[in-house]
Amino acid sequence: MPGTVVVGTQWGDEGKGKLTDILAGDMDVVVRYQGGHNAGHTIVVGEQSFAVRLVPSGILHPGTVNVIGNGVVVDPAILFGELDVLEQRGIDTSNLVVSGNAHLIMPYHQLLDVVYERHLGPAKLGTTKSGIGPAYADKAARVGLRVQDLLDPKIFRQKLEVVLKEKGAVLSRVYNRLPPSIDEMCELYLDVHAPRLAPRIVDSVHLVHTALEEGKQVMFEGAQATFLDLDHGTYPFVTSSNPVAGGACAGAGVGPRHLDRIIGITKAYLTRVGSGPFPTELLDDVGDGLVDRGREYGVNTKRRRRPGWFDAVMLRQAVRLNSLTEIFLTKLDILDPLPAIKVCVAYDIDGERVTHMPYHQSDLHKAVPVYEELPGWQEDITGCTTLDELPARARDYVLFLAEQGNVPVSYVGVGPERKQTVHVA
Ligand code: GDP
Ligand code: IMO
Ligand code: MG
Repeated sequence: MPGTVVVGTQWGDEGKGKLTDILAGDMDVVVRYQGGHNAGHTIVVGEQSFAVRLVPSGILHPGTVNVIGNGVVVDPAILFGELDVLEQRGIDTSNLVVSGNAHLIMPYHQLLDVVYERHLGPAKLGTTKSGIGPAYADKAARVGLRVQDLLDPKIFRQKLEVVLKEKGAVLSRVYNRLPPSIDEMCELYLDVHAPRLAPRIVDSVHLVHTALEEGKQVMFEGAQATFLDLDHGTYPFVTSSNPVAGGACAGAGVGPRHLDRIIGITKAYLTRVGSGPFPTELLDDVGDGLVDRGREYGVNTKRRRRPGWFDAVMLRQAVRLNSLTEIFLTKLDILDPLPAIKVCVAYDIDGERVTHMPYHQSDLHKAVPVYEELPGWQEDITGCTTLDELPARARDYVLFLAEQGNVPVSYVGVGPERKQTVHVA
């Protein structure tokens, strides 16, 4: 009963979409287990580039069933927009299904995301303003609407009436904004979205377990990443779900025994979008170079990603938090021109050398990175297909990171395209 998890080990945008797409060719089922359209996953095939947000990154493989799991929050309009674009480009999306237990993002969630951020002023989180936090907050408060509610108009309206009393009051009295009326929302969700979504709504837990019982290959695709995790990330500068591998259990409805391969997607340097601590952040020309060469701009929001050196303290923590069996190191090619590359191997916190992630956020803010410097290879590696073809210094860099994290590296990404992947083992 093999289950593979793909999880980001940093602050997102590590290249999860690329790897999920590569592995999906061998998978029967791919399940997204958390997050929503705050994600932006890029898949490059030849000359074509696809960007998916809610749709699992296995969608390009016609033989793979793609499941939006119960742990995801779904804005139907965004989902249909994505499906339309894929279909216009000749992709068969009939293999995409949605869990009836997934929660819906409603227009007031998106409005609240915007006004909460404004209210925070300089302390803002830098969210994607997609309504993710407010939708998960309602799920936890037990006033969320679920995808299955679309199938029962009476229940849908009743629930909405209750929740709107509070949302309407907060939005109008505190934030001077008005959500759409209940009639407008019912019309949009029940008359427009429901008929289109209905044929795709499934019991995803049953679907996943049937596949596992039949010995099929199931992959659990995480969005965001370990350090954006609500429990384990740099709170409050996190997302509102659990991207860590354990999140796959709750977000797809499987027990931990079903997860036997856990792949951490790890960029060869670091980026972060939005606010929050970042010990190895580069605010200089070297950072600008990483952003330019790595095209480090958000897939959806187009925001510039903050660049930094690789942080092995974070990697060690990600190995622990996710029980990583291996890592897939991405974007090694972006380091090609650098004469020297730094890796943070520990933090200096108030004069003390610390090799594990401090639990206290203030410590992380004060952490001064302790670097080891490795020589760069200054060669173009984008055409390499085997480990032997990589320059010795590039191999040394990969091995150094593996040693630091005490985790094997199984693939190295040397370009955005599917084929630009070096299989190590
Ligand atoms: P995700 O959110 O983790 O799926 O990652 P994104 O798609 O947001 O960002 C990763 C970006 O890097 C995308 O533009 C990918 O096409 C690109 N990418 C992925 N792997 C590699 C690689 O090994 N080298 C290069 N140059 N680009 C890569
Ligand atoms: P993928 O899956 C990078 C960040 C936002 C913000 C914080 C909270 O493409 O790696 P949210 O809208 O989730 O409430 O925002 O999380 N964030 C991401 N950063 N990649 C992502 O997804 C992200 N999804 C959310 O920038 O700092
Ligand atoms: Mg992304």
